[in-house]
Amino acid sequence: MEKVLITGASRGLGYELLKVYAARNNMTFPLVRSEQSAQTLSAEFTNCFPIVADLTDDDAINQITSVLNSYAGNIDILINNAGISGNEHLIENVRTEEVNHLFNIHCLGPIRTVKACLPFMRSSENPRIINVSSRLGSLQKMSSGEFLNRNFSYSYRMAKAAQNMFTICLSQEMQETGISVCAIHPGQLLTRGRSTDANTDPETAALNIYEWSKEINITSTGQYVQPFVGELPW
Ligand SMILES: NC(=O)c1ccc[n+]([C@@H]2O[C@H](COP(=O)([O-])OP(=O)(O)OC[C@H]3O[C@@H](n4cnc5c(N)ncnc54)[C@H](OP(=O)(O)O)[C@@H]3O)[C@@H](O)[C@H]2O)c1
Repeated sequence: MEKVLITGASRGLGYELLKVYAARNNMTFPLVRSEQSAQTLSAEFTNCFPIVADLTDDDAINQITSVLNSYAGNIDILINNAGISGNEHLIENVRTEEVNHLFNIHCLGPIRTVKACLPFMRSSENPRIINVSSRLGSLQKMSSGEFLNRNFSYSYRMAKAAQNMFTICLSQEMQETGISVCAIHPGQLLTRGRSTDANTDPETAALNIYEWSKEINITSTGQYVQPFVGELPW
């Protein structure tokens, strides 16, 4: 049994991840934004301890710590999945509030969860941090013109690129501690935040991430991958 904290577990990929880990007898800590979601998940899953927090707020750190202190002891896997898509793809329409908000969720959110979880990960036998990024965070893919004229938002692409830099910085800092840190592209998912070329149901993506998470350890730290598909260029 492993202890797994999954953010954004109320729906989409996060909920499917929760289902996969819970069904395989792991202890789960789904992070959701509302008490109602927390109650629903508590009733649906056994050995499940929801955390109610908004990841755009520093209070999330204490809210996570409080639940982990009460129930966890240690955390083996932290999956930073929570995130939203942006809107504006033309610079004339870009609002700094939107960019700020997406940076807060995709980049500062994982900083908050990592700060809260690190003390609980040091005693794990195979601690892993998985940041759910996107192919759209790849500077190399973007600069090659791969997504030209696709109208993806400034805010999302910039926030995921910043999150990727966080993954690189953290993986290098954590190297000596044995905590593995990776970024993943989960595929183009048929969820609320879907792209126009969405083709993967979130159940399949969650199962792939689960199977892949069993295989990784400190030797795989610093990767940017689509599980069972291949590595992405940073
Ligand atoms: N969809 C795709 O094709 C795709 C492709 C590549 C990468 N991704 C990434 O995969 C992850 C999951 O995507 P998805 O499509 O499953 O998204 P989704 O269905 O829109 O779900 C997003 C989740 O994030 C939570 N969330 C949003 N803002 C939050 C905040 N401030 N604090 C805490 N939780 C918050 C939502 O909670 P509420 O229910 O409370 O709103 C929800 O549980 C995201 O990081 C996304 O960028 C998605």
